[in-house]
Amino acid sequence: MKLLVTGGAGFIGSCFVRMALQKRWAEQVVNLDKLTYAGNLENLQPIAGHSGYRFVELDICDSSGVENLFRCEMPDAVIHFAAESHVDRSIHSPAPVITTNLNGTFTLLEAARRNQISRFIHVSTDEVYGSIEPPQEANEKFPLRASSPYSASKAGSDLLALSYYTTYKLNISVTRASNNYGPYQFPEKLIPLMISNALEEKPLPVYGDGQQVRDWLYVEDHCNAIRAVLEKGRAGQIYNIGGNCSLPNLEVIRRILKATGKPESLITRVTDRPGHDRRYALTNEKLTRETGWQPQMRFDDGLASTIDWYERNRDWVQRVKSGEYRHFYELNYANRAE
Ligand code: NAD
Ligand code: TYD
Repeated sequence: MKLLVTGGAGFIGSCFVRMALQKRWAEQVVNLDKLTYAGNLENLQPIAGHSGYRFVELDICDSSGVENLFRCEMPDAVIHFAAESHVDRSIHSPAPVITTNLNGTFTLLEAARRNQISRFIHVSTDEVYGSIEPPQEANEKFPLRASSPYSASKAGSDLLALSYYTTYKLNISVTRASNNYGPYQFPEKLIPLMISNALEEKPLPVYGDGQQVRDWLYVEDHCNAIRAVLEKGRAGQIYNIGGNCSLPNLEVIRRILKATGKPESLITRVTDRPGHDRRYALTNEKLTRETGWQPQMRFDDGLASTIDWYERNRDWVQRVKSGEYRHFYELNYANRAE
């Protein structure tokens, strides 16, 4: 099996590439990535010398580059992770989000159609369902109610991907996962940001009242689920992937402070995010019924091993926090204290 993975230098994509080669899910993996601020080849150090691994620096919006790559490599399957993935950035600057998530997905779908690629997994998010009223959980038939430019771009790309099944019979499945956490996550998202600020004893910025609820999924559980969909998922189908772990943000932050031995006085309330979704919740029932997959990692164990990774990889954190990250941090958090 030869896989073409897009966005394989990012957080989840790099975990998938490492697992695919280390666990021999595939003999060959071609990693297509533009290396934006979120792409980091250090994340692939553990498999960099693997004979079945090839990295190609390319923008998924570059239609002739993508077409050439598909024609040369003729992968058995495409796993499409590449995206602008951060809600706050999409609020400050929606243009790259729309370009990559919509036009980039379109470019890949066209190349897959023209080259008759036999399997395509479009990796998406539970955020496309928008905020879910308790006690409901979204299943795959829930309406799309995206709130941010990020989630709207993902909802649009999901529909585009599904249209390539309906219209062209491309063998495509869409996955919608909840909030991921684990090693190598860029410290702009809640868990790595709070861990790295806690370790440095910097303020932990909580948006609004901190009672927003997210479902937490360990990144390796997510990658195992994608493999299950790759092998057993049906064409034209959507599969939710959740961690069965719903928690309010403040509870997650308190557990991080407890595990790192830092004081709760570091918690700092800041102005809420515009359009902030109150609660995400989804059911895995379809994926479990059709593939047998279930999340394996208990949240407190996953959080402990993630904290341990950030403690042991302070150099990685310092390198990704230099340069561009500082501008983003200033833009997002300055003048926001309540
Ligand atoms: P990430 O931001 O860590 O990585 C994104 C990767 O895509 C980076 O390596 C970046 O360089 C690459 N990329 C961005 N624009 C590109 C372009 N135009 N051409 C080629 N490469 C480009 O993201 P992530 O958290 O690993 O998320 C991966 C996917 O999973 C995304 O599609 C995201 O929507 C989805 N997802 C993420 C989460 C989460 O909690 N992080 C949850 C559900 C779904
Ligand atoms: P995030 O990791 O950005 O993921 P998403 O918005 O895609 O769910 O945020 C997770 C939750 O944490 C969300 O409710 C926003 C909140 N949050 C904060 O309170 N403070 C922060 O500094 C960040 C980054 C997020």
